[in-house]
Amino acid sequence: MKGMLKFLTCGSVDDGKSTLIGHLLYDSKLLFADQEQALKLESKVGSRGGEIDYALLLDGLMAEREQGITIDVAYRYFTTKNRSFIVADTPGHEEYTRNMAVGASFADLAIILIDASKGILRQTIRHGRICSLMGIRHFIFAVNKMDLVGYDKERFKKLEKDIKKLAIDLELENIVIIPVCATEGDNITEPSQNMKWYGGKTLLDYLETVEVDDAGNEEGFVMPVQRVCRPDSSFRGFAGEISCGSIKRGDTLTVLPSKQEAKIAAILVTDREADAAEAGQAVTISLDREVDISRGSVLVKGTEAYVSTMFTSSILWMDDEKLTEGKSFLIKLGTQKLPATVMNIKYKVDIDSGEHIPVKQLAKNELAECDIALSGSAVLDKFANHRSLGEFILIDRVSHMTSACGVVLHSLRRSENVVWQKLDITRELRASKMKQKPLTLWFTGLSGAGKSTLANEIEKQLSIQGRFTMLLDGDNIRMGINKNLGFEEKDRIENIRRVAEISKLMNDAGLIVLTSFISPYISDRRSARDIIGTDNFVEIYVSTPIEECERRDVKGLYKKAREGKIPNFTGVGSPYEAPEHPEIAIDTSKYSIEKAAEFLMEELKKYIDEANDEG
Ligand code: ADX
Repeated sequence: MKGMLKFLTCGSVDDGKSTLIGHLLYDSKLLFADQEQALKLESKVGSRGGEIDYALLLDGLMAEREQGITIDVAYRYFTTKNRSFIVADTPGHEEYTRNMAVGASFADLAIILIDASKGILRQTIRHGRICSLMGIRHFIFAVNKMDLVGYDKERFKKLEKDIKKLAIDLELENIVIIPVCATEGDNITEPSQNMKWYGGKTLLDYLETVEVDDAGNEEGFVMPVQRVCRPDSSFRGFAGEISCGSIKRGDTLTVLPSKQEAKIAAILVTDREADAAEAGQAVTISLDREVDISRGSVLVKGTEAYVSTMFTSSILWMDDEKLTEGKSFLIKLGTQKLPATVMNIKYKVDIDSGEHIPVKQLAKNELAECDIALSGSAVLDKFANHRSLGEFILIDRVSHMTSACGVVLHSLRRSENVVWQKLDITRELRASKMKQKPLTLWFTGLSGAGKSTLANEIEKQLSIQGRFTMLLDGDNIRMGINKNLGFEEKDRIENIRRVAEISKLMNDAGLIVLTSFISPYISDRRSARDIIGTDNFVEIYVSTPIEECERRDVKGLYKKAREGKIPNFTGVGSPYEAPEHPEIAIDTSKYSIEKAAEFLMEELKKYIDEANDEG
């Protein structure tokens, strides 16, 4: 019996996907008698009169019947005497590309349905591109509804030609094209009596026999470490699933990113010692010496992977909100999860023509090539070399939704050739001379909220206390290092990124830094916190309401903004996202500046005094 086959079906609305899967299940005699009975009853109200409506067999039926479209991924397990299968039935409506990508990321093979009477549609091309992006290497094009074209051989030949051309354009590998009729069952499990001219396999026959062992083509041995286990002090094991290749006791492995080498002392497969293990198995490995390994490390043998901080990728953007260059996310790449920034969008790919179009933003369902920078180094490889090290998702830092999925095209060499230089005089040394703990006091709030005034006051008081400080103020920084930035989203993101990096450097110098920037986006402030380090970061939300800021209107900017003279003015034409959990919040409409400063100094004590204890 062959190994399990995971596949998905894609098609446009009304292409007959659900009917096709339903028929497969039915003909494979996978229904229990009572389920069959229920189906016959249901079908009386189904769309095919007294006939059995195979589409009714699938999960998620209610929604589909109500809306006429499948809205979620429905997974079905079935087995024949030759093979077991899991099928993901994914939605055909354009709105649901996201679910389709999710289904595709799990599958080895895709069945793409084409309506024989309609031919290749925009959706067909989109589905082909997404499947190929998600790493599917086996395709069945099921040319459905052959009954509608009178089972005509010529029509099929014409479509076959179109599909082959499409497969070349999209660089799809391993394609077969089968004429079917899902409602009648032609060429689904039995050869069609209506299309005797077709000499190929039936759909089920092909599914039962196709070889999809692509991991077998990947080079060497790779195992991303999922967990470090220490049941007692004598044993330290590294658990994970072998994604390609095989190992045996005594083999020498390389540990990435440290590049240390060690021999395998023992292999455990589900708690039992084994001499060897191979791709697909979940194992725990112990090594013959102490090496630097944690979750996210990768064990390899006979192959290489990059230890890199930057790479070029192909992504599918799935969020309702647009992607802007410079935006920061959490990336999940293999077993590694770390902050990452989309540095630039090189171009988007036109779904229909494949044309490369230069853009600064990406909308939902668009495909693009982007450069991505990681907050630290990670182990990765071209998706084409090692699937497990080359596919990733980007997670929104605020909503925690998957915003994009993608694959690594290549590592950017400039990042591999930059190596961190270790210095003898460290941040700790510099700070201890100043007898203080370096901190960044990050003031955020609307224009006119009182950030700069307060930050200025606090700096004075810290200075009187003998602290070494530096104040970075929005307007001033924008006249110097950031004079090339405006107020569009991408410019503000870059503004905050630079300020965070500068603050970090100044913290490295031992200073207590105060920053006064509107910094309107939660995700940018999170990313500033990551850059600076959460132990050194104190977010101070100056929460003065907009009515008060506008009443003060010290610089006359609110008036101008209301007159339409300043586009994207925060609070008027551009949003301000209030912090959810700032370390300190202060509304300056309620206090005099002295009182507000007094309150802040009191609140800051625990961050600054803690430093005194250490110093
Ligand atoms: S941020 O949004 O990128 O953090 P930043 O704090 O550097 O903004 O700059 C804000 C200052 O720039 C404001 O105090 C105001 O003086 C000025 N400014 C000019 N145009 C705008 C605008 N469109 N939105 C907000 N501030 C603006």
